[in-house]
Amino acid sequence: MDIRFESAGASFGARVAVEPLTLSLTESRVGIIGLNGSGKTTFARMINGLTKPTTGKVIVNGRDTREEKTALADVGFIFQLPQNQIILPIVRDDIAFGLKGRGFTKAEIDRKVELVLARLNAEGLAPRRAHELSGGELQIAALCSVLATDPNILILDEPTNQLDLRNRALVQKTIEGLEENVVVITHDLELIAGFGRVLLFHEGRLATDAPAEEAIARYRELAV
Ligand SMILES: Nc1ncnc2c1ncn2[C@@H]1O[C@H](COP(=O)(O)OP(=O)(O)OP(=O)(O)O)[C@@H](O)[C@H]1O
Ligand SMILES: [Mg+2]
Repeated sequence: MDIRFESAGASFGARVAVEPLTLSLTESRVGIIGLNGSGKTTFARMINGLTKPTTGKVIVNGRDTREEKTALADVGFIFQLPQNQIILPIVRDDIAFGLKGRGFTKAEIDRKVELVLARLNAEGLAPRRAHELSGGELQIAALCSVLATDPNILILDEPTNQLDLRNRALVQKTIEGLEENVVVITHDLELIAGFGRVLLFHEGRLATDAPAEEAIARYRELAV
């Protein structure tokens, strides 16, 4: 993956959510930590173009996000509340939905759906009603829907939020096994403990850009 922020910042009216920053992300695993409201989600949304920079530019795999009308198709995003991105009632249909309008035949879509379910060991979820799933199952279902579209980069916004130990372990194991480039925003510091690169945001500024251990230590200092 090749993500470049060039003096890129984002403001909402007078509120500066992310102060202009310049950096390049090429590692296959990047963690993002920081207090509530520190700018993590906004920074992540700038990577896939859901939020366009109000100053500077963001270049992802050679494309300037400002020149794309919509979010970048190959940058998958799992939202902080995955129920907000499930569109159809049945899990299997929801996974297939994301593949429609991309030039695949019905048979190709069916095959991609089966492949992603098998990959995440989630065949049992396919016929279930999304609104009946537990939090962890819903995280996995959302992951299936996004992975089915073959993203090059996957952004996970607090993927273990509200999960019990078992579902948390399931999500962590799933993330560890992903071939895709992954950017993980989390308050669950164990999840990013092994990451070589962790960005710590504080009051909209990139406060630390370091291996996990150093970034987490700095975060603990800032939090008190
Ligand atoms: N669409 C928006 N309109 C106005 N202000 C916004 C918008 N999105 C974010 N903000 C503001 O920008 C700041 C950063 O928000 P952001 O969602 O990026 O924080 P965060 O680090 O993800 O926080 P959390 O840990 O609570 O999810 C906050 O002050 C927030 O209120
Ligand atoms: Mg957030």
